[in-house]
Amino acid sequence: MCGIVGCTSTQKNIIPILLDGLKTLEYRGYDSAGLSFIKNGNLIINKVKGRVQDLENHLAKDENAKIGIAHTRWATHGKVNEINAHPHNVGSITIVHNGIIENFNKLKHKLKDKGYHFKSQSDTEIAAGLLDYYYNKYQNLDKTIQKFIKKVDGSYAICMLVNNDPNTIYVIKKDSPLIIGKGENINYIASDVPAILKYTKNYYILEDCEYGKITSDNITIYDKDGNILNKELKTYQGSNLTSDKGTYKHYMLKEINEQSITIRKTIDPYINNIDDLLKLPDLTKYERIDIIACGTAMHAGLTAKYLFEECTNTKCEVFLASEYRYQNNFLNKNVLSIFISQSGETADTLAALKKVKEAKCDTLGIVNVKESSIARALDKVLYTEAGTEIAVASTKAYTAQVALLSVLALAQAYRKKSIKEEKILKILEEFQNISSTLIPILENAQTYENIAKEIYKQNDIFYIGRSLDYYVSMEGSLKLKEISYIHSEAYAAGELKHGTISLITENTPVFASATIEKINAKTISNLKEVVARGAKCYLITDENIKDENFTIIKIKKVSMFLKPLLIVIPYQLIAYYTANLKGCDIDKPRNLAKSVTVE
Ligand code: G6P
Repeated sequence: MCGIVGCTSTQKNIIPILLDGLKTLEYRGYDSAGLSFIKNGNLIINKVKGRVQDLENHLAKDENAKIGIAHTRWATHGKVNEINAHPHNVGSITIVHNGIIENFNKLKHKLKDKGYHFKSQSDTEIAAGLLDYYYNKYQNLDKTIQKFIKKVDGSYAICMLVNNDPNTIYVIKKDSPLIIGKGENINYIASDVPAILKYTKNYYILEDCEYGKITSDNITIYDKDGNILNKELKTYQGSNLTSDKGTYKHYMLKEINEQSITIRKTIDPYINNIDDLLKLPDLTKYERIDIIACGTAMHAGLTAKYLFEECTNTKCEVFLASEYRYQNNFLNKNVLSIFISQSGETADTLAALKKVKEAKCDTLGIVNVKESSIARALDKVLYTEAGTEIAVASTKAYTAQVALLSVLALAQAYRKKSIKEEKILKILEEFQNISSTLIPILENAQTYENIAKEIYKQNDIFYIGRSLDYYVSMEGSLKLKEISYIHSEAYAAGELKHGTISLITENTPVFASATIEKINAKTISNLKEVVARGAKCYLITDENIKDENFTIIKIKKVSMFLKPLLIVIPYQLIAYYTANLKGCDIDKPRNLAKSVTVE
């Protein structure tokens, strides 16, 4: 979603730094880009609909400035066009903004009554207008910002230039991440650490309702009342972002193939002997586990629900964070809430987490990005080691989440003695060998490409399964629709007859997985019912099934705790090859964002 970069330097030209930062944030998804800088005392604004490369082409080759702010926009208020792109300038104020100003309509009317005119449909222009209004009124930027924080509802990370203060960048933050990077005679601002990692690893994190003033050699951060804060300077510990696709055509294909490593790396501390499981948090005192997440992360949560309930006899509910935050959560001290997030910045997940914290109940997180907002707000965090995921459609982050949740459930089974030690040892051995189990599935590319050829011209595709297989099919269906734009739905196989079967016509593709012995026969009967109505069926199974009515993708028989990891890979690769045949922009699918920082 939207990205912010800012920079002010004594000596260096900051234009290439801003463009470079925006390029690093491209993977998050955006539709327009803009940049503003001060040159010879004049404010210059450049904006384009399209890519950062278009913005770069739009600028003079030797463009040079010492202070500037830049933005990639993912449209929320108003169409995708140049006028709605950031930066927005009103009077003396120029800003870039991530988030949503919720009371912008009310503020807009008030400002119009005071004589303001607005050119765009964007809520950000109203924020700029409000800042300009207070600045004219108080002639004091501290007072202006403090008043702004009081009056504005919603979320914002704002980076601001002020006409008659040409050496300072101002920043304001609430419910949308913003960091300030510290250099030597140069300082940086960014919505995400990776945007500035090439230049500095040292940064301050702004918390809600804090604001800052940044010049090339000074950074001052204030609370909402204007008191100077003594903030901790953090040093980034993770590895640098690799923006190298290697020999792969797309990041998504690279990331799918990395899974044999990233899964193993994530669970390695917990699987080498049985007592390693005890390094994981003890969840036995809780009567119920709630899992809260969005998108793919929520699908990972569903696989854990299956394991906690079936294998450890622990009640587990899974919620979409966007729903959870507005419903009755029946929380009490005996409930543990687990939050799952790749980015650690998803607005709904973060809001749901704040709700649980306000209720003073325990929280645990499965997060990929260290030091992210969600990671920092949690009581306890377990990190997935998926590395940086660039493709918008999540693959290696999903399997890392699934694997970590699976070992967490296995630890629960060990502590509760719901599974015999002998069996746990066998499961641990399977986890130790996960890489070699996954490699043949990853290498079966020809099968997936052949299937892609059969389905890529279709308009509707269905995914079915029961129980754990159903949960994984939800992720399979999501992958396909995200990147190939083919309409697809996942259904619990037993539910087909209650409506969906009316959509099955000659050659409608139906994917199924059947890997749970006691119910496989039922799923296969459901598959036969759709074959009888003309469907073309594909079955992922670990059983020895021979049926000429289906194309069978055979996977190795493993414990329940590993099954989702094996089932999902064919689904990911079929989605990939289908989108590739359609010529889609696989790494940056239409309208989607990697990190969804607005509600
Ligand atoms: C977006 C991404 C998905 C991701 C979801 C939740 O929709 O495109 O890939 O699953 O957000 O993101 P999170 O970072 O919280 O896992």
